[in-house]
Amino acid sequence: MSLPTEAGDLEAFLSSAKSICVLTGAGVSQESGVPTFRGADGLWRKFRAEDLATPEAFARDPLLVWEWYAWRRELIHRAQPNAAHMALVELEDRIAAQPGGRFTLLTQNVDGLHERAGSRNVIRLHGSIWRLRCTRCDTEREDRAVPLDPFPPRCACSALLRPGVVWFGEPLPEREWAQAAQAAAQADLFLVVGTSALVQPAASLPLIAKQNRARLVEINPDPTPLSDLADCVVRGKAAETLGKLRKASEPRP
Ligand code: APR
Repeated sequence: MSLPTEAGDLEAFLSSAKSICVLTGAGVSQESGVPTFRGADGLWRKFRAEDLATPEAFARDPLLVWEWYAWRRELIHRAQPNAAHMALVELEDRIAAQPGGRFTLLTQNVDGLHERAGSRNVIRLHGSIWRLRCTRCDTEREDRAVPLDPFPPRCACSALLRPGVVWFGEPLPEREWAQAAQAAAQADLFLVVGTSALVQPAASLPLIAKQNRARLVEINPDPTPLSDLADCVVRGKAAETLGKLRKASEPRP
């Protein structure tokens, strides 16, 4: 099967779509200086994300996991939204202004850069690095301190607080998952940007969209398990690719 691989196809798909769903992953923030999890820059000290982002790792060594999040928080705090984040805000504005237009941004990112850029209809599938949650009673609160306290603080119930993110082996928040699955099923265009599509259940959202006859577009410098299913693959970086689309849609003098 030959795939169209031109950004021009992406432009055509975008201009005919009325209901757009976008799934983003760590690759979208890479050009903002936030390392991805599985790329060459993915290791922190000698640890992989899978060694740290689990309830078992936090139970075993809360300080180690806390320090990893403190490091990521500092990087994210210094980072600015890039052209990919901005292009998705503009796309949302354009689609939402159309009669019957629907735009939903599903993100696995916990960095909050989509919200900082101005995206409005964002569904956070994996929580937020800017929230803390009790390991016992699940009470949650926002916490934007940078640097983080050197030790994980305790909840009023005396148990340790942990980052408010979804770890391996944990279920996604129910309401967010239901909203995401519904938006995917209703999309006529589903855009997957900067995710390895290896982590379930988020990686099944493009399949839900495809089963419901959405066109599937992937933007990623590297192949993923979704590449062969996509109607259009753009082998490029998110900010570069989506940044070009922004320029293409600027009014000409
Ligand atoms: N633009 C677009 N894509 C990029 C860029 C870039 N500049 N740089 C890297 N990528 C791609 C990589 O090719 C890879 O496919 O982004 C993807 C990043 O993959 P992962 O590191 O696996 O990140 P993600 O898919 O978001 O991981 C999913 O796993 O660790 C957990 O909960 C964590 O939300 C995360 C989930």
